[in-house]
Amino acid sequence: MTTYELVNASRTFPTNPPTHALRDVSLTINEGEMVAITGPSGAGKSTLLHLLALLDSPTGGQIIFRGQDISALTENQRCTIRSHQIGMIFQSFHLLSHRDAVSNVALGRLYRPRTETTDDTAADWALSQVSMQHRRLATPKTMSGGEQQRVAIARALVGRPSVLLCDEPTGNLDRANSDAIIELLENLVSTRATPTVIIVTHDPSVADHCNRRIHIEDGVAA
Ligand SMILES: Nc1ncnc2c1ncn2[C@@H]1O[C@H](COP(=O)(O)OP(=O)(O)OP(=O)(O)O)[C@@H](O)[C@H]1O
Ligand SMILES: [Mg+2]
Repeated sequence: MTTYELVNASRTFPTNPPTHALRDVSLTINEGEMVAITGPSGAGKSTLLHLLALLDSPTGGQIIFRGQDISALTENQRCTIRSHQIGMIFQSFHLLSHRDAVSNVALGRLYRPRTETTDDTAADWALSQVSMQHRRLATPKTMSGGEQQRVAIARALVGRPSVLLCDEPTGNLDRANSDAIIELLENLVSTRATPTVIIVTHDPSVADHCNRRIHIEDGVAA
């Protein structure tokens, strides 16, 4: 199945003069792909990721997500799709410091119908996907950066999203931890725990592990 199809997608910010952050971007991303988005600072990478995350809408063109045109949905409609189908992780892991791993992960189901049992079962499944089940009661301050990022990935996975979007996921990690996280993401795609992974990265060795690289310069994708 096709995860994303962009047809001449543009995003112009209404500054004076207008900022053309993305210009007529057309691309297809399929299930089973791990894709890197690269390019210099200010090129439009975060703007593109926000569109893919349904946090923002294009000002021109179309974005089809899993067969549905999402270009002109209301904020509520976008929010529903986002909470059910999209997982995100960031450079700084954004875990709650006073909560243990399992309850940080369960927060990933915040916008789902919930019961404590399903939340804990889902959280333990997600922690096992990132090999952190043995640390389920640990709080973030007792974890390494790599372990914190694993828990953040588990939180993103807990609602079984169709796609995992990553904004500089290894930006705060050393080489060894960074390699381990990338290997983990590769495994998640190959086992289809999450069918599609998209990574914004400045790190060439992270991009080398991806099936494909989308390079953006001055709002234009190549
Ligand atoms: N909300 C906004 N309003 C106005 N201009 C914006 C807004 N967000 C981004 N821009 C502009 O759009 C362009 C692309 O920005 P974007 O954040 O997508 O770059 P980036 O590739 O993620 O850069 P970096 O690698 O530094 O994170 C830049 O010129 C930026 O100043
Ligand atoms: Mg950015």
